[in-house]
Amino acid sequence: MNRRTVLTSVVATSFATGAALSACSVGVSDGDRVRGATTERPPVLRQPGVSTLPPAAAVQAAFDVRGADRLALAGVLRRLTAVISALAGRYAGLGRPVEVMVAVGASLFDGRFGLGSHRPRALVVMPSFPNDVLDPARCHGDLLVQVCAGDVETVRSVLAELAVPGLVPRWRVEGFRDQNSVTGDGRAVDRNLFGFRDGAGNPDVRDAAEMERLVWVGADAGEPAWAVGGSYQVVRIIRFATALWDGESVARQEAVFGRRKSDGAPLGLDREDAVFDYGSDPSGQVIALDAHIRRANPRTPETAGSRILRRGYSYRGGVDAAGRRDEGMLFICFQRDVEAGFATMQRRLAGEALDRYVLPVGGGYFFVLPGVSGGDGDYLGRTLIDAAG
Ligand code: HEM
Repeated sequence: MNRRTVLTSVVATSFATGAALSACSVGVSDGDRVRGATTERPPVLRQPGVSTLPPAAAVQAAFDVRGADRLALAGVLRRLTAVISALAGRYAGLGRPVEVMVAVGASLFDGRFGLGSHRPRALVVMPSFPNDVLDPARCHGDLLVQVCAGDVETVRSVLAELAVPGLVPRWRVEGFRDQNSVTGDGRAVDRNLFGFRDGAGNPDVRDAAEMERLVWVGADAGEPAWAVGGSYQVVRIIRFATALWDGESVARQEAVFGRRKSDGAPLGLDREDAVFDYGSDPSGQVIALDAHIRRANPRTPETAGSRILRRGYSYRGGVDAAGRRDEGMLFICFQRDVEAGFATMQRRLAGEALDRYVLPVGGGYFFVLPGVSGGDGDYLGRTLIDAAG
């Protein structure tokens, strides 16, 4: 039986002072503020939900915007921001912090709102990669709202309140992180539905310089000025052929990923945070050449620029018409440049051993808007709307 048979059917954190990131920040006024060390630049505001540690529950909800023109779009963004601010205050008061993050899709920059010349340079409609069988009903969207919280009930309540007029629901997927924890060296890890620990290979979110280099759009990124403080977000709904996977031996499963199932250590090493030297294993005797971690991050100088920050969740969507479970991974990643990051890495993964057990069915490319100041009149997307005049 092959895969297709089975599946087709806050805190205002100053990086200048090196302050640590909060585990779970609240609301839109909680972005990171960065000031130039020598010359005073306007503060760079960032939304929570990118480099914060991921809470245990989340939803990714895509919407289209119904509105006659840019003024109408600005109205939608203003209303959305006001609701998010009010929610943030209310949930913080209840001691149940939430993160709400808003990103925009390439379609927002079509003719409707006169934003065409302000599109982030690499923001395109997510292409179909060779292993994909994309379902149009679960792809793309003008706007993506990410809500994260400690439990699914909170996530649902928050999302329900974000249904402001002008937003037309397109698709949504709820996610969860089993055994959500943080390693000694600061990496958020969970255990995915294939039973493997996931996250140890991430860059360190506490390393501000690394985050600037890999994740955040800075003033030097060659992007429109309004986009500084944002980041490219990729969402991929990846269905797992769990029954096929569960029929494999643990040894085979470990060969597919290149890590041990029990504790996440790279094969042949004894700690999850140990770094495998691929140069010492050129023909893949220990970690196969088509193993997931080896393909994803070969750790060569040439591939260093394609590193990304993953912040994924598992999902369980019920049972499809043929009685097969619809479950897998809500793969989410952030990077400064989606072409140099995710797309380059995804092309490198083509033909990996994992392909046989997974089926990407949806998702999209988005751009996380810069954060807001919380001051009078500021709203998510304001820098974009103002740039368009
Ligand atoms: C198809 C479903 C996927 C599953 C089940 C999966 C699972 C895993 C697991 C278990 C690890 C090892 C733990 C870790 O290093 O964090 C890992 C590592 C990694 N994965 Fe995935 N992954 C999937 C898709 C992807 C995709 C689509 C990408 C990017 C295009 C990706 C990029 C990475 C990277 C960069 C690493 C770290 C490698 C390293 O630095 O050694 N993964 N993944």
